[in-house]
Amino acid sequence: MNPVEIAEGIYSVGVVDWNIRDFHGYSTNKGSTYNSYLIIDEKITLIDAVKKEFVDELLENISKIIDPVKIDLVISNHTEMDHSGGLPRVMHKIGEDKPLYCSKMGEKNLSLHFPQKWNYHPVKNGEELKLGKRTLTFLETRMLHWPDSMFTYVNEDKILFSSDGFGQHYAGPEMFDDQIGDAIMPHAKKYFANILLLYSPLILKLVEKITEMKLPLDMICPDHGIIWRKDPGKIINAYVEWSRQEPKRKALVVYDTMWHSTETMAKAIVDALCQKGVHAKPMHLRSCHRSDIMAEVIDAGAIIVGSPTLNNGLFPSISDFLTYMKGLKPKNKIGAAFGSYGWSGESVKLINKELEDMKFDLIDPGVKIQYVPDEKGLEACHELAEKIAKALPV
Ligand code: FEO
Repeated sequence: MNPVEIAEGIYSVGVVDWNIRDFHGYSTNKGSTYNSYLIIDEKITLIDAVKKEFVDELLENISKIIDPVKIDLVISNHTEMDHSGGLPRVMHKIGEDKPLYCSKMGEKNLSLHFPQKWNYHPVKNGEELKLGKRTLTFLETRMLHWPDSMFTYVNEDKILFSSDGFGQHYAGPEMFDDQIGDAIMPHAKKYFANILLLYSPLILKLVEKITEMKLPLDMICPDHGIIWRKDPGKIINAYVEWSRQEPKRKALVVYDTMWHSTETMAKAIVDALCQKGVHAKPMHLRSCHRSDIMAEVIDAGAIIVGSPTLNNGLFPSISDFLTYMKGLKPKNKIGAAFGSYGWSGESVKLINKELEDMKFDLIDPGVKIQYVPDEKGLEACHELAEKIAKALPV
């Protein structure tokens, strides 16, 4: 990707990772980008680096605007290696003694990643840095989503460099929200669901803080995906909605199956829910990736999980999904379990335990059926669905 001037003297110099399909367990079907930004002022400033493998491309992009050795300082908004992996090469190129601005935790975390004794300048929340005609303000955003995370705001241009916040794993020909329109929203939602959902309470506080500060925003530039310039308020409002996790009349039936018995139960539950006006869908874990399911979980009122009993336990894909979902701490959910078994039949009990740990509202002990569902078994599935439909918001 060639550098693009996004505002006068401010360039996007990052890279596109067209081929990534797995980002630490998150399915990135449309690739991703590692955004980096260059500000040309009296002090030439680079905001964030890129993944290690892409650092040559970053340096080449910078070279199309200025000689990289002219960079006066680097800002690291976030330590995670998709943004810091290229830092050693960048610092080596521009001069190891150049100032590196980051949060206090940023200094600690960068030091734990890289042995180099860089010229760290830890900044506090609200601290300002004059570049020349521009002034930067640093905003600490601890745990959004790492302890080191911070935002950098350009006062004069009203641009917020938001690190992972408001990002999306999306690689395409577009660079701005007005070029892609609403088609970017599912990618932003999936990103939120898989990276930020567990920090929802902090996001609501952050948005409140930004609103109180009356921070004018002409542009939000995240470190992944497209830049929000047409309507930055749209993604902020979406973050508020997703953080609230208000349950809709929507149910996900997440399952795996061995000989189609648990699948037959899943379909019976979905059919009965749909008949009761619930937006319900089956999600087979060997067809749907856990990260795609999480994007659906945000606004679902009910999560119904089905597993056969295998070797006295859960089917492995169900354990994987429950572990993943538990870590992301979804809220305001009704939960229920179902599954077929041969002789021991532990799966429903084990799922219930996991759902209880997630503080889901278990409104039924669940349905377990030996071997193959008969008419009576399917009737039990319908009854479970009816109970769930009754408990969901209208
Ligand atoms: Fe894009 Fe938390 O790294």
